[in-house]
Amino acid sequence: MHQDALSANAVRAFRNTDAESLCALWARVFPGDPPWNAPERMLETKLSVQPELLLVHERGGQIVGAVIAGFDGVRGWLYHLAVAPEYRRQGIASSLVRAAEQRLLELGCPKVNLQVRADNTSVVALYRALGYEVEERVSMGRRLGAR
Ligand SMILES: CC(C)(COP(=O)(O)OP(=O)(O)OC[C@H]1O[C@@H](n2cnc3c(N)ncnc32)[C@H](O)[C@@H]1OP(=O)(O)O)[C@@H](O)C(=O)NCCC(=O)NCCS
Repeated sequence: MHQDALSANAVRAFRNTDAESLCALWARVFPGDPPWNAPERMLETKLSVQPELLLVHERGGQIVGAVIAGFDGVRGWLYHLAVAPEYRRQGIASSLVRAAEQRLLELGCPKVNLQVRADNTSVVALYRALGYEVEERVSMGRRLGAR
């Protein structure tokens, strides 16, 4: 499948010169996100912790796909998987997830978790295609501090 997207060098770690293009991608793909997920803020936050786990896919000088990964020492997490609409169904998201998994595995991570909105059927379909299962859990969260 999708040999181009899956080629060994298709996915790489974020570089500072990608910032504008990556923020433009996130703004396009997640237009309704709340202020705390604003692209520039998300980027600054991620670059402060495990920046090497921010992965991108570049085509023609533009960032057309990206994923945020993190490892807390117990579990790995994936966030904000995004592919530009005109590049979808070419295997780009799959290659980003597989590359993130590989990096997490190299850090000793035994399991990857992620959360998606219940009505986001396309991303659920994608993760199912990659072997992820819906697990019976209650997802809980609390916003910390005044930010
Ligand atoms: C979900 C998303 C990342 C998928 O990106 P992609 O590069 O098109 O995914 P892939 O090409 O790797 O898809 C691999 C497989 O996943 C499944 N899949 C992907 N998108 C799908 C869709 N819209 N509907 C059904 N199945 C889908 C298919 O099985 C596909 O294989 P196929 O193309 O051979 O049928 C992309 O649609 C996107 O950016 N969506 C908006 C952002 C979003 O909601 N992100 C999640 C935040 S948690």
